[in-house]
Amino acid sequence: MNTIKKKLLIIAHRPSPNTESMATAILDGAEHESVNGVSAQLRSPFTCVAEDVLASDAVILFTTENFGYMSGALKDFFERIYYPCLDDEKRNSAKPYSLVIRAGLDGTGTKNAIGNITKGLTWKEVQPLTLCHGEYQPEFIEQCRTLGQTMAASLEAGII
Ligand SMILES: Cc1cc2nc3c(=O)[nH]c(=O)nc-3n(C[C@H](O)[C@H](O)[C@H](O)COP(=O)(O)O)c2cc1C
Repeated sequence: MNTIKKKLLIIAHRPSPNTESMATAILDGAEHESVNGVSAQLRSPFTCVAEDVLASDAVILFTTENFGYMSGALKDFFERIYYPCLDDEKRNSAKPYSLVIRAGLDGTGTKNAIGNITKGLTWKEVQPLTLCHGEYQPEFIEQCRTLGQTMAASLEAGII
């Protein structure tokens, strides 16, 4: 029997080898063998449109912090999808999402800015922020993998 899989959209800005590895780890976690009922997709913010968001059941956002703010790529994404998503209340309202920030130093500006935008979008943050800051640590990979798996498992279980 064919079952319809829930869709987990991972929107990741990954301009460096480290961030590429982190984004891949989120996807790996989401595709963990223990989770069967979820289809995960890893995409660049530049190629995502509102319909991708509306058609998804949950979203993971991943951005670097640049100049104390989210990446230009993610900001461009939000600018393009904001009103089209709000216009489709049925598919957009309370969209479950979680956020990963890779920051050289801080991450606060990015966290606050994205929090304001997602509040306006009426999205629902379903996992605590994953903030990977400071010098690059191999532990970041495990944190990303865990988040991907947790989001996919929660989606499969119907608890988000
Ligand atoms: C133009 C530019 C601006 C940046 N601005 C910030 C910043 O304001 N705060 C911060 O914590 N990190 C900042 N960074 C560091 C990036 O967040 C970091 O390079 C990125 O997360 C990639 O990390 P990686 O070295 O592990 O690949 C900046 C990087 C670039 C290239």
